[in-house]
Formats: sequence, C-alpha cells, structure tokens
Amino acid sequence: MSINKVMVIGAGQMGAGIAQVFAQAGLSVIINDLDQGALDKGIAGIKKRLERAVGKDKISETEKNETLDRLAGTTDMNDASDCDLVVEAVVENMDVKTKVFKRLDEIMPEHAILASNTSSLPITEIAAATNRPSQVIGMHFMNPVPVMKLVEIIRAIQTSDDTYQAIEDLTKKINKSPVEVEDFPGFVSNRILMPMINEAIYTVHEGVASPEDVDTVMKLGMNHPMGPLTLADFIGLDTCLYIMEVLHEGFGDSKYRPCPLLRKYVKAGWLGKKSGRGFYSYE
Ligand code: CAA
Ligand code: NAD
Repeated sequence: MSINKVMVIGAGQMGAGIAQVFAQAGLSVIINDLDQGALDKGIAGIKKRLERAVGKDKISETEKNETLDRLAGTTDMNDASDCDLVVEAVVENMDVKTKVFKRLDEIMPEHAILASNTSSLPITEIAAATNRPSQVIGMHFMNPVPVMKLVEIIRAIQTSDDTYQAIEDLTKKINKSPVEVEDFPGFVSNRILMPMINEAIYTVHEGVASPEDVDTVMKLGMNHPMGPLTLADFIGLDTCLYIMEVLHEGFGDSKYRPCPLLRKYVKAGWLGKKSGRGFYSYE
C-alpha cells in the first residue's frame, strides 16, 4: 500500500521530530495535540531546526519552505479521516494510548495503519483495543528523531505481514534503518538502555559518585556520546520511570525495580530538560 498522508498524535519532543522527518521525506503531515500551546511549541521547534539546517547549508531555503507547506497542525483528531497512517506519540501510559487508539479506529479509513511510538508498552494490548488489530504496529523512533537512524519496528502478535512490510518500506523511504523486533517489554532498545540508566541513578543514590562523575566515566571510559544521567534528563525522567515500571511488571524480576531516587525526582516534577530540572539544571 502507498502511504502519502500521515497524522502524528502528540507534538512533544518525539511527535514534532517524527512529523519533521515525514514532511522532509515528501509526505503530507498533520500534527495533532490536545494542547494548543504544545502544538505551537512543536511546530515552532520544527521551523527552528529547518532554519538552522538552511544556515548550515544542509538544506535549501526552497526545501525548507516546501517541507513547511506539507505540514499542518490541528487540535482536532477527526482531521485524521483521510490519512493512510497515524503515528501516536503521546504520554507513555496504557490507558491514554488505548483511548487514543479506540478513537482513531473510529475516525480513520479502513485501509489505514495505526502505529505507536511507545518506548515499552505492549503493542499487542494496544492492537486488541481496536477493531483492526492486524493493522496495528510499533514504530519506535529514537530521540532526537531527525538525527538518529534507527526505527525499531515492533510486531504485535496480531500484526499482518502486509502491515509490517508497509512500515518497513516507509522507514527506508524516510532514510532510517528498520530493525524487526517481537513484542516483549522494552523491546530491544529500552530493555538494554533503561536498566543501565536506572543503575546510573542507583550509583548516585548510593553516594558512589556525583552525576557529573558518573557521566564522565561513561563518556570518557565507554565513548558514549552522552553520560547516562544527561541522557535520562534528555529522554525525560517521567518516561524513564514509566519504562522501568513496564519492565518490572512485564518480567516480574526485581532486577528491573525503579530506583527510589528516580521516583522522588518525578514526584517533585523534576522531569529533566523539558521541565528545566532533573539531574542537572537547565534554567
Ligand atoms: N533535535 C534535533 N537535532 C539535534 C538535537 C535535537 N535535540 N540535538 C542535536 N541535534 C543535531 C544538530 O543540529 C547537529 O546536526 P547537523 O550535524 O546536521 O548540524 C547534530 O545533531 C549534532 O549536534 P551537536 O554537534 O550539537 O551535538 P553532538 O555531536 O553532541 O550530538 C546528539 C548530539 C546526537 C544528541 C548526541 O549527543 C547523541 O547521540 N546522544 C545520545 C542520543 C541517544 O542515545 N538517543 C537515544 C535515546 S533513547 C530513545 O530515544 C528511546 C526511548 O524510547 C527512550
Ligand atoms: P512529551 O511529554 O514531550 O510529549 C507528549 C505530548 O503528547 C504532549 O505535548 C501532550 O500534550 C500530548 N498529548 C498527551 N495526551 C494526548 C492526547 N490524548 N491526544 C493528543 N496529544 C496528547 O513526550 P515524548 O518524550 O515526546 O514521548 C512521547 C512518546 O514517545 C511516549 O510514548 C514515549 O515513551 C515515546 N518515546 C520517547 C522517547 C524520548 O526519548 N523521550 C524516545 C522514544 C519514544
């Protein structure tokens, strides 16, 4: 099937990046958020990044304008009624996601594919909330979306081969590299990454070293581009906690217990870069 028009639900850091890469690849994109302020911020971020790319001679002024012409914003999910694909990137919470998918299932045309950018939640359960489970799939982009090459494609137990193939083809069309993954908690990426971040938080919690020193060890010692605590702040500490909870519940293994310090920060509203404070201050 050909995918020409896409709606992205959620204009946060992931949704805005996903909308940008689709529009840059020539697709017609509608970006949706229930909050007008978040929508405006998401679109302003896309404009800023494209302008920066023009300034660095990475794209032309015409390319920037054409990309922006292909992009529209809305707070009305009903505008998805003529889209071939939706990629959902709202908060990492099963209740919120299943509500969104039930609604989309009613709105979207019969042929449309419903994809989730969830970091860890079971695609199989999201698919079961719809009347088209064979057309539901995980399309997991990495942050920052315009830069990172990987898309993990997660097959729910119900996902059809046609749906998988359409999403793999689209991933290649937008110049990303697909990896096929079965539906288990955290998939591959966050099953491996998030316990490392959680362990880094335990290291600070137990007073072994400061956040700066933990990050320095991993940057200079392991050549990671960002230390784990900088990365946790970048991802969002709320998202990190939700993912650890999904791993803990999904595998029933105490090795995935979220660090109490992570819980405390999230309870304080210290969510990392997006809230101005996490392991570091961004004010
Ligand atoms: N959004 C968009 N583009 C960004 C960006 C952002 N937030 N931050 C940096 N960039 C772009 C810059 O514009 C620049 O682009 P050009 O080369 O085209 O000019 C490029 O990235 C490099 O930027 P910098 O030189 O300023 O910075 P850097 O070399 O330190 O790289 C980084 C920045 C790419 C973010 C690098 O630090 C990095 O790779 N960090 C680790 C990222 C990572 O691990 N991501 C995965 C997170 S886990 C996840 O996403 C899954 C999940 O479910 C939680
Ligand atoms: P975010 O908090 O930056 O953005 C979420 C956006 O969704 C907000 O603007 C919010 O207003 C909007 N929203 C919430 N409920 C909505 C609804 N019912 N309808 C429309 N919009 C709604 O979050 P994010 O970091 O962009 O994460 C979004 C999703 O992507 C999560 O599932 C997360 O696990 C996943 N993800 C995050 C990262 C990361 O590094 N942050 C990486 C990969 C995947």
